Amino acid sequence: MTKQELVEKIQALKKEKNAIVLAHYYSDADVQDVADFLGDSLELSRKAGTADADIIVFAGVHFMAETAALISPQKKVLVPALGAGCTLADGVNGEALAEWKAANPDGIVVSYVNTTAEVKSHTDICCTSANALSIAKGLPEDAKIFFVPDRNLGSYIISQTGRKMELYNGCCKVHDQVTTEMVLDMMAKYPEADVLIHPESKCSNDPVILENPNCYMYSTSGILRHASESSKKQFIIATEVGTLHKLRKDNPGKEFIPVSDKIVCHYMKLSTLESVYEALRDEKFEVKIHESIAGKALAPITAMLQK
Ligand code: 13P
Ligand code: SF4
Repeated sequence: MTKQELVEKIQALKKEKNAIVLAHYYSDADVQDVADFLGDSLELSRKAGTADADIIVFAGVHFMAETAALISPQKKVLVPALGAGCTLADGVNGEALAEWKAANPDGIVVSYVNTTAEVKSHTDICCTSANALSIAKGLPEDAKIFFVPDRNLGSYIISQTGRKMELYNGCCKVHDQVTTEMVLDMMAKYPEADVLIHPESKCSNDPVILENPNCYMYSTSGILRHASESSKKQFIIATEVGTLHKLRKDNPGKEFIPVSDKIVCHYMKLSTLESVYEALRDEKFEVKIHESIAGKALAPITAMLQK
């Protein structure tokens, strides 16, 4: 099938089945273009809850589709690729959190939304990179906090809020490649550029970066907002390369340079036009969350969305 035929079949199936495609900014560019809604993980969670659809095809990674299924149990949530994991979500299990809770019964577990439903079921409140600072600031000042699982985002929150938090030692293998040296090398090549950096990056708590007036730390939606609102013409983008598609589409007069073309999340690229089409056609692969944990896993997401 040609690309055009696939797009037409996807559009027809969406109409026939009252289905929508949600895609993350890291998805393949063709999939982004066929999506009904494109967003970062916070925007996609909200959209999953409000969308008027019977079926959601989630072109992202598994934890995002699980979040959508928890928020919208009455909708059928499908993932085009079963193998679309996440190095952060797959690096921690509920046991680590249960042990911490047993030792710290008054403590608060804050889980990044990049976690499995099982981990969320041991969590008090979730956050995404877009709301992490406000969620942390909203917790009682004397609270004992365990932040799970991203040590880079966790250190960034500590650097910005001064909150004391115990950090789980996990990381995103994609963003953990973004080092201070990599950023400084690119800044030397493009001295006029603003540098927009995702806080999962290894350099996210380095004062050399944080105190540099041309460097900005943002979630994916923050990166997009800054690029649109800024009068600058050139930007170095220190996050997953898929984001460049939307940046370039929205800002034709501006130049976007990836900090490195190796910052690629292969899990996100598993959703292709073909797999989105097959997911819609065969209504596969449905995300199921065991009823014994669904209620407990939804509670920290609801706590986050209500903030
Ligand atoms: P956002 O919260 O910016 O969407 O990031 C999600 C993610 O997986 C980053 O690697
Ligand atoms: Fe997970 Fe990293 Fe991929 Fe985001 S970029 S989905 S955190 S592996």
